[in-house]
Amino acid sequence: VGAGGHVLGVDISEALIGRARALAPQDTPVQFQVADASSAELPEGAFDILFSRFGVMFFDDPTAAFAHMRHALKPGGRVAFVCWRGVAENDWVRLPMDAVKGIVPPMAPPGPEAPGPFSFGDRGRVARILTAAGFTDIGIAPFDASIPFGEGATRDAAIDEAVKMTFEVGPLSRVLADQPDDIRARASAAVRAAFAGRTGERSVMIDRATWIVTARNPTS
Ligand SMILES: C[S@@+](CC[C@H](N)C(=O)[O-])C[C@H]1O[C@@H](n2cnc3c(N)ncnc32)[C@H](O)[C@@H]1O
Repeated sequence: VGAGGHVLGVDISEALIGRARALAPQDTPVQFQVADASSAELPEGAFDILFSRFGVMFFDDPTAAFAHMRHALKPGGRVAFVCWRGVAENDWVRLPMDAVKGIVPPMAPPGPEAPGPFSFGDRGRVARILTAAGFTDIGIAPFDASIPFGEGATRDAAIDEAVKMTFEVGPLSRVLADQPDDIRARASAAVRAAFAGRTGERSVMIDRATWIVTARNPTS
């Protein structure tokens, strides 16, 4: 943050804001707000940059949400965010989903525009949303990386962590939550085997595919 600058961190989750408060360096001029970013009270024309890491795919009406957030940007201000591409390219969901086929009932695929982690997978849709929200100079670039999913003191602990996360976050977690204990146990063993097939010494390395999206608030 430059001299005289300030940061406003917004998240709808009290727990996430609590975590952000705990992690923020003491000397950073940052305020936090627990609010829905699509309707939060934001100062008009106040910010140079709007940034999000994996937080913008959950709006019921993304165009209205981005138009609302754009009004908090100065003329010429920029937006930058990272979001997931498709499930098929993202091992943190693809691997466990493939592993539980035949163990849990098949999941109805979400509608292509239903809010959720993969709702910005279609780059054309992302461009349409930002254009309709009034942004210009839209850039949408793929960014691929192999990242540690589970991490732990040992390889076994890392795999346990990856399995735990599968049961806690992402589309599969909701399906697994509804299953009886015996099915959950079989699913857990299958997911464990899938992650065990990946490399990593004290982690489970997985392929992840994202878009890095940038755009600008027009100057007039
Ligand atoms: C995958 S998490 C990413 C969290 C964090 N940005 C990070 O990278 O670690 C998605 C975040 O988006 C937040 N979120 C979802 N819908 C939101 C909304 N309408 N307004 C504000 N935050 C929202 C969730 O509470 C959650 O913290």
